[in-house]
Amino acid sequence: MIGRLNHVAIAVPSLEKAVATYGGVLGAECSEPQEIPEHGVKVVFVILPNTKIELLEPLGENSPLAKFVEKNTVGGIHHVCYEVEDIIAARDKLKAEGARVLGDGEPKIGAHGKPVIFLHPKDFCGTLTELEQV
Ligand code: CO
Repeated sequence: MIGRLNHVAIAVPSLEKAVATYGGVLGAECSEPQEIPEHGVKVVFVILPNTKIELLEPLGENSPLAKFVEKNTVGGIHHVCYEVEDIIAARDKLKAEGARVLGDGEPKIGAHGKPVIFLHPKDFCGTLTELEQV
């Protein structure tokens, strides 16, 4: 069901430092920072030949990333995102298999302007898993 790896998201306390690492030390192409208040994140996309890395900094007091960055003070892998062709069909199949969809279970528009859902880490090998319709 899942297709390509769309991105790996790394949550960081400072996007500026993260961009210095990815854009500078590692020499990767980085997008301009973009604030997404409805998701409580500020994001930079690192564009790699075969996938993307999403660098996420918490935005605002109620950011869903705040606790994660408090625990992982230098940053850490936050989630992986796989592409699916039909997000509703994917969600319904996963729910039928007993997987937990986070939130109200309805797809939201993600950082790339496409519908996404998030799946409970305990059902997917301890990894928060995002599905994006492409
Ligand atoms: Co993501």
